[in-house]
Amino acid sequence: MKHLLSTQDLSLGDAISILDTAEEMAAVGEREVKKLPALRGRTVVNLFFEDSTRTRISFEAAAKRLSADVINFAAKGSSVSKGESLKDTAQTLSAMGADAVVIRHWASGAPHRLASTDWIDAAVINAGDGTHEHPTQALLDAFTMRRHWTQLAGIESQGADLTGMRVAIAGDVLHSRVARSNVWLLRTLGADVTLVAPPTLLPIGVEQWPCKVSYDLDETIATGVDAVMMLRVQGERMNDSFFPSTREYSRRWGFDDSRLRSLDTLGMKDTIIMHPGPMNRGLEISAAAADSPRSTVLAQVRNGVSVRMAALYLLLSGDTREPAATPGAGVAAAPSTKESI
Ligand code: NCD
Repeated sequence: MKHLLSTQDLSLGDAISILDTAEEMAAVGEREVKKLPALRGRTVVNLFFEDSTRTRISFEAAAKRLSADVINFAAKGSSVSKGESLKDTAQTLSAMGADAVVIRHWASGAPHRLASTDWIDAAVINAGDGTHEHPTQALLDAFTMRRHWTQLAGIESQGADLTGMRVAIAGDVLHSRVARSNVWLLRTLGADVTLVAPPTLLPIGVEQWPCKVSYDLDETIATGVDAVMMLRVQGERMNDSFFPSTREYSRRWGFDDSRLRSLDTLGMKDTIIMHPGPMNRGLEISAAAADSPRSTVLAQVRNGVSVRMAALYLLLSGDTREPAATPGAGVAAAPSTKESI
């Protein structure tokens, strides 16, 4: 496969191969010289039609660590404000020789459109499309969970999946591309997923998703969870009132201080608290929870660079005009798995 558009397309083998390659990339990040020559001479364009801090910076850092040339394109301040279409923008980038386009767009399906037309010949990576998917976020979340899960089991993370891990994803599921991508990927990796949200913040048809659904966060925690992923309340996508008040929301669906304490009382000493960021502190997550030793928020950001390096490497190396340099023993084998990503 040439593009990374959705976690629904990933087989177990694909997912493990990306996570294992990301482990190799993380090892490079520990070295004194953190840069690899693997994508020298290749051009990665970050095409962002929607605001982003960590995802854009993370892709930029990943591409630079692989020695690619990076062009950052933000729709604000560009000809898109003058009404230029996605097609014209894409063709302009193509004419400039882009090898990969990392696209974030407010419209669900925009990356698929880019990948399925002949507007551009580059590899397309979906960096978040509307309320649809955000595959690299789910992969970095899975990477973070896998490190934790294998550490608890005292085994190597390379090659492991998440069989048996209980994950609760709580909050604004309706508007969350992170939740959608996570549900598909976690199911593939063998985890047991429960979505927790007020009924107004669950999408129609959620009962067909491969997960459980609950309206009660305390009940879900009490049944036992190994990771709780809190989702941001996406005010910018809300054109209606989805809950009575922010106070009511944080009391019922936020990971507040009393729920943080309940993990201790219930004897769940190894349960981690995740959030993709940006966080609304005091709304879906309390400051104490976000900053507690259980929180993986910063580890997720760190792991994001390794996972995006892996995605760029696997998509861009191997088919090249120039052979890709091999960053480490494990990655040396990676190009052979590339076709299947
Ligand atoms: C997420 C996104 O943009 O979908 N954030 C991110 O990529 N770090 C989640 C969010 O905005 O709440």
